[in-house]
Amino acid sequence: MKPVASLHLKKERAHLKSGPHVDAHASLRTVPAKSGSYSSTPGNSSSVQNSGFSDSRFLMNTYARYPVSLVSGNGCRVCDKTGKTFLDMIGGIACVPLGHAHPRFVESVQRHALGLTNASNLFHTENAARLAGKLCAISGMDRAFFSNSGTEANEAALKLAMAATGKKRFIACTDAFHGRSLGSLSATFEPKYRKPFEPLSPPVDFVPYGDVAAIKAALTPRTAAVIVEPIQGESGVIVPPENYLLELLELCESKDVLLIADEVQSGNGRTGTYFEYLSHGGGRFKPHIVTTAKGLANGLPIGATLARGIDLDFKPGQHGSTFGGNSFVTGVASDVLDLLQKEKLMENAVLQGNRIQAAISQMNKKSVSAVRGKGLMIGIQMDGAAKPAMEALRPKGVLVNVAHDCAIRLLPPLVLSNNDVNEFVGAFNEVVV
Ligand SMILES: Cc1ncc(COP(=O)(O)O)c(C=O)c1O
Repeated sequence: MKPVASLHLKKERAHLKSGPHVDAHASLRTVPAKSGSYSSTPGNSSSVQNSGFSDSRFLMNTYARYPVSLVSGNGCRVCDKTGKTFLDMIGGIACVPLGHAHPRFVESVQRHALGLTNASNLFHTENAARLAGKLCAISGMDRAFFSNSGTEANEAALKLAMAATGKKRFIACTDAFHGRSLGSLSATFEPKYRKPFEPLSPPVDFVPYGDVAAIKAALTPRTAAVIVEPIQGESGVIVPPENYLLELLELCESKDVLLIADEVQSGNGRTGTYFEYLSHGGGRFKPHIVTTAKGLANGLPIGATLARGIDLDFKPGQHGSTFGGNSFVTGVASDVLDLLQKEKLMENAVLQGNRIQAAISQMNKKSVSAVRGKGLMIGIQMDGAAKPAMEALRPKGVLVNVAHDCAIRLLPPLVLSNNDVNEFVGAFNEVVV
């Protein structure tokens, strides 16, 4: 009798030789009809719903999820499994600058899925090289390392700073968020995220955001780098004082300390320039290391760590990632970058962001104490908890989220239209006193 395993293999080889493999490819080449048009029916999610596994009881309890089960999206609209549509002002937490199911994004995903899926980093691949080149040209950096998320981009930045300087301490800011893997968590301020996992490494000293003198006072001969968000996101969208970044860079350069700009949330065109730091110091501000992720491939998993100067590079083996820089996702990210420019979405972010801020300010609501941010990265500071407003907006068909308990945070797709803004502003006016 033949061993069972060898029988299985024989069957699989026969299957691969015959039609189905080829047919599968052919069907992928066809862009689904009207990929950009919106359907309010849940579409092919029905098999998932009918399987009995459609609720989240098998997922770990990492997020306090809202009571909405989303199944599809188009542009700035998402649809739940009952067929109700919402205006998506969260945008995957700044992950979908092109919006959901943008036809050119869908076309790009399909095209790159037909190419190399993952050839490993043992080889050169054109897509990774091209994306690195484009990001360096935009950012003024010299080289890129690709990973799969924001926290990984920051892990790489911290390791790179340690490897290049031989020093092991960092400075970060109060209320900073840099990720949840252990290295990035060290630089994340919120005690409830950090405490259960202490002692953390590398050691990080925290100083108030926006205060260069505090950073100067905290520097030690063992400080490798300062890590900072050009606009803080998770803390409720906090914009630093005008010359903060430039003065910080001057301080770091005078003390031989590296400056890492975490653009994971503020980057990818959201604030009107591809990276927020590019709008500082009339082009004179250039950090030593830049990290990005979120919207880089319009929501597909990718992170990037960019660095300048001859010393800021890894040696083979010092760092790596199996998935990072794969041909598929870097190919899509390159197209997303081109589309942002071609469709003038950074300009639109500024236009629509200004309209939102002006409209909320003009309402003079008693329970709103401030509106702040830049482009489509906006925080609306409420007098108390922001959750009631968030929950009142949902039945009106508008999704927002809350940052730092008291701020409503808006990070919508950059394709937001005049009508979308009017709808958001109208709903906000109705539910907020
Ligand atoms: C500024 C900043 N850095 C890092 C991260 C972590 O990114 P990720 O969740 O992709 O690991 C986030 C996520 O919100 C962020 O806002």
